[in-house]
Amino acid sequence: MTDYKFLYQNRIRPFTKWAGGKQRGLASLLEYMPRTEISCYVEPLVGAGALFFLLRAKRNIINDQNAELINTYKVIRDDIMGLINVFIEWPCTKEQYMLLREWDRREDFLDAFSPTERAARFVYLMRFGFNGLHRVNALGQFNTPFGRYNIIGKEDPKSLIITDLLRCNEYLNAQHTTICNGDYEELIDLVPPHAFVYLDPPYAPLSKTANFTSFNQEEWTYDDHARLYKFCLSLDRKGIMFMLSNSNVPFIQDLYCHFRIHTRSLKRSIVAKTSHRKNLIEEVVICNY
Ligand SMILES: C[S@@+](CC[C@H](N)C(=O)[O-])C[C@H]1O[C@@H](n2cnc3c(N)ncnc32)[C@H](O)[C@@H]1O
Repeated sequence: MTDYKFLYQNRIRPFTKWAGGKQRGLASLLEYMPRTEISCYVEPLVGAGALFFLLRAKRNIINDQNAELINTYKVIRDDIMGLINVFIEWPCTKEQYMLLREWDRREDFLDAFSPTERAARFVYLMRFGFNGLHRVNALGQFNTPFGRYNIIGKEDPKSLIITDLLRCNEYLNAQHTTICNGDYEELIDLVPPHAFVYLDPPYAPLSKTANFTSFNQEEWTYDDHARLYKFCLSLDRKGIMFMLSNSNVPFIQDLYCHFRIHTRSLKRSIVAKTSHRKNLIEEVVICNY
């Protein structure tokens, strides 16, 4: 039986914050995990991978459609010293931040940089941008403002980040991990029958009138959620265990009514305009086991 308490106490901090990331509420999420040992862990919408960096499964498949994020995972695994050498040269200033942010403003400009340089830029922008947000405009250009005024002039704000990067490097090399960059549906034939799959999509809005503040380019429509439901059905038909998080709204409850639906209350990390019970948000955790 898996000792989740031990895993939680020894978890690795992800190399970035991420909108909707499961750092918060991770301990209570573990209550819904399968009790059997997980030999293959699959996270098709991995983001910063809070659960991935906890589980220490021997075999992992992670995926996200965000190319810069996935490039960063690969570089952290395969060229950590190259990444650190680039990252360490950049001073922690607003000027440097804006300079790096500009890299995706000119067509094909980003492509002129090596994967290692792009990964260093990604880590820098995510760690020194406002609130660790990955926000892009309609053209897909990173537009989070500089956010770390409190670190300017401080001695070594980068050492903590480098420690995190080194731990993630060690983890990615110790746990055999296939890293994919594409739509989650492309994984269906890669998932072995004995795998456990965790799905953490962009959450459904809390009400039809809610202004869904996703801080990301892609907000999911009803059809997107319905498509993910079909993916879950395919997993279920193959006898593959899955667990899915979402907000507790009627259409998600209706879609998944044939599965086990647990509810939990969590403090919001990003507050939307509508206020629901003093910063508390109700989530569902849906399982087919
Ligand atoms: C809520 S975040 C996951 C957070 C993650 N559980 C964590 O702890 O950081 C959802 C992720 O789904 C990714 N995503 C959205 N649509 C996708 C798609 N069709 N295929 C693959 N990834 C997608 C987004 O880029 C985002 O990183």
